[in-house]
Amino acid sequence: MAQKRLTIDYQEYASMAEMEEADRSLLERAVKATEGSYAPYSHYHVGAAVLLSDGTVVAGANQENSAFPSGLCAERTALFAAHAQYPHLAVRAIAITACSNGRMVSEPAWPCGACRQVLADSQRRAGTPVRIIVGGLSRIVVFSCVDDVMPFIFNGL
Ligand code: THU
Repeated sequence: MAQKRLTIDYQEYASMAEMEEADRSLLERAVKATEGSYAPYSHYHVGAAVLLSDGTVVAGANQENSAFPSGLCAERTALFAAHAQYPHLAVRAIAITACSNGRMVSEPAWPCGACRQVLADSQRRAGTPVRIIVGGLSRIVVFSCVDDVMPFIFNGL
């Protein structure tokens, strides 16, 4: 038996002003995307912005549904729209944030497990790392690839 340990490198910013321009601009698109959220049940309005290899940005927001499981998270709304509209472009980055009661959430809006798995496939399709920017009022966290938010990733059969 070998005892092993995983470590993850990531960057943390205290405010959007500290961030590099490309990341900040994508996060701003995610903030704007929260306006498209339909969340009458959770009142948790998530926005996501996906950056593609030619510079195109595709935004998405969570869409809830009265038949509960039929809704979809912001990240998957944005990623599936991006892949459907631009199947030949690679995903380079995604920014995610959320608002509640008209205010950005304090803690970063961490993507759920299902969205991380979908991001894993986007990264596999791209063949290059997908950057993940997760924003909250108290801090913004940047990961340089999906593996950093999902160790031992399932990468298909
Ligand atoms: N939600 C997202 O949009 N992304 C996530 O990664 C986690 C959760 C949405 C789903 C639902 O509309 C609301 O947040 C509360 O769970």
